[in-house]
Amino acid sequence: MILLRLTPSMYLRGTERRRYKRNEVRVAILEGSIAGYVTFNHSFYQKPFIQYLNVKAPYRKQGVGQALIESVEGRCGNEKLFTSTESNNLPMLRMLEKRKFKVVGIIEQLQETAEIVYCKEITGAH
Ligand SMILES: CC(C)(COP(=O)(O)OP(=O)(O)OC[C@H]1O[C@@H](n2cnc3c(N)ncnc32)[C@H](O)[C@@H]1OP(=O)(O)O)[C@@H](O)C(=O)NCCC(=O)NCCS
Repeated sequence: MILLRLTPSMYLRGTERRRYKRNEVRVAILEGSIAGYVTFNHSFYQKPFIQYLNVKAPYRKQGVGQALIESVEGRCGNEKLFTSTESNNLPMLRMLEKRKFKVVGIIEQLQETAEIVYCKEITGAH
């Protein structure tokens, strides 16, 4: 698996590039195809935040999602890394538990199901 890190300067210009300069996209390439990606930024109270993670259906359950999360963890120093997911998203909930993320909040009223907020304290030795 190849993991590529794309920064805004590679795909945004001008104002957008300045506005989103702390956004990153990490892409996983498997068998020459894009298997999945993760977007990472500081939009959550200026904290490191995994905004979205997606693995294409044929490539799921092969460790791609976990590798993408791990690569974002590796990008954080001694920081708290946050993310959130809907309470009925079993694959994502299991994955976050497996990577030792802890539940730190529940947001109601955003959509039909509650949004569960997770955090992992990154120590540099993970
Ligand atoms: C959630 C998602 C990213 C997982 O990606 P993945 O590459 O399939 O996950 P991995 O193969 O790395 O699995 C890592 C762990 O996650 C958990 N997991 C993954 N898929 C699961 C499933 N279908 N059911 C239960 N647990 C699951 C397991 O604990 C797994 O470890 P194991 O294989 O040792 O059991 C993928 O299912 C996906 O893209 N879903 C649609 C988009 C989405 O919901 N994104 C999250 C929104 S915030």
